[in-house]
Amino acid sequence: MESSSFRDCEAWRAEGLPLSTSSNEACKLYDAILTQYVTWRNIGSVGGLEGCFSAIKAADPNFVMGHVMSTGMELMGTASSPRLNQRLASAVKKTVELATCQNITQREKLHVKAMELFSLGYLKGLYSFGLMETRFYDQAEKVAMEGLALVPDDAWSVHSVAHVYEMKAEADKGLKFMESREKDWRVSDMLASHNYWHWALYFIEKGQYEAALQIFDSEIFKRCKATGSMLDVVDSSSLLSRLEMEGVCVKDRWREMLQVTLPHTDDHVTLFNDLHFLMASLGAKETGASQRLLEGLQELAKTPGDNYQHELAGPVGVPVCQALMEYQGGNYGQAVELMYPVRYRMVEMGGSDAQRDVFNQLLIHAALKSDDKHHQRLGRCLLVEREALRPNSPLTDRLMRRAMALHS
Ligand SMILES: [Fe+2]
Repeated sequence: MESSSFRDCEAWRAEGLPLSTSSNEACKLYDAILTQYVTWRNIGSVGGLEGCFSAIKAADPNFVMGHVMSTGMELMGTASSPRLNQRLASAVKKTVELATCQNITQREKLHVKAMELFSLGYLKGLYSFGLMETRFYDQAEKVAMEGLALVPDDAWSVHSVAHVYEMKAEADKGLKFMESREKDWRVSDMLASHNYWHWALYFIEKGQYEAALQIFDSEIFKRCKATGSMLDVVDSSSLLSRLEMEGVCVKDRWREMLQVTLPHTDDHVTLFNDLHFLMASLGAKETGASQRLLEGLQELAKTPGDNYQHELAGPVGVPVCQALMEYQGGNYGQAVELMYPVRYRMVEMGGSDAQRDVFNQLLIHAALKSDDKHHQRLGRCLLVEREALRPNSPLTDRLMRRAMALHS
C-alpha cells in the first residue's frame, strides 16, 4: 500500500471522524497504524508498526490518538503490566494528561478512557467474561486472574472466575475463591448480590442447602428488597426455584419474593425477567398473577411490532412460561413437550449460561418425573449430556441416582 493513500486531516474529517491534530503526517501515520493492525502485517514502506509509533510522536508529540494507539497496542499486544513496567505506566499517565489539557472530541476521550481502563486491568474482566461465555474456560480464568493481579477489587473479574468454576462444576474451588476475596468484591454494591448468588450455587451443587438458604436470607434477598435491582430479583427467584427442584422447602420466601415481583407482572420488558417473575407467582401459588403474566405476553406476541422480545415471545417465551406452569401443576409430560422443542432457542432470551441453567434443570426434572417412558429416557440422555459438559457434578450425580431409583 502506498503511503500517499493514507488519509490526512481533511480526509478524516470527511469520514466524520475528525482527529485532534493539525499534522497531516500524524493523521496519515494514524491511518497506517490502523491499516497494519487490521491486516496483521507490517508495511515496510512506512517502517512497520514500530516505525509508525516513533514517527507519529515525532510528527506531533501532543497528538492524543497517536499516544492512544502506541500505548494501547503495547498494553494489549505485550500484556506488559504498568504495575511492573514504569515506562509503560508513565506512557499511560502522559496520554491521560494530554487528553485532559486539550479540547479533543468525545470519541477521542472514550478511546483514552478505554486505554486507561485496560491499563488498570478492568477490561481483562470484561474480556474474560466473553471468553467464558464462549466456553474458553481455562483462558477466561487466566485472563481474569491477570485482571485481579492488577485490580484485586475488580468484582467483574471475580464474577468471571466464579462463572468458570460454576461451568466446570468445581464447587470447592469456587467456594474457596469467593471466600478468600469476599472483602474485596463485596464493596461493589451493584454486583455483590450476584456474586453471592454464585457463591450460593456452589452450595446447591454440593447439596448444602441450608448454607445456600443462609446466603439467600442474609445477602441476596436482603439486597433485592432494598434495591429492587432486576439482577437481584432474577437471582432471588432463580435460587429459590433451584432449591425447590432439589426438594428443599423454602417456606414463605416465595410470598416475600412476590411482593417484589408483583408490580412487574405487566412490564414485559424482557422474557428472561418475565420468566423469573413467573417463578415467584407460581412459587407463591398466586394463580391470578401467573395467568395474567402469561396472557399479557400472549397478547403482545400477537402484535410484536419491532420489539424483539415480543417477537420472541410467541416462539420461545410463551411456551417456556407454559412449561413452568405445567410443571408447577404436576403435568410434567406436558412441560417436556413445551420446553424440549425450544431448548436451543432459550439462549435468545439472554442471560448467561449459568443463569439459564435453571431451565435446563427444570427440563430434566420434568422429563424424569413424567409418566411417559420416552420422556424418562430423554431425561437420562439429558443427564448424560450434562455430565459430559460439566463432569463430576454432584448435582448431576444426585439426579442420575434419582432417575435410577424412579425408573428401574
Ligand atoms: Fe453471573
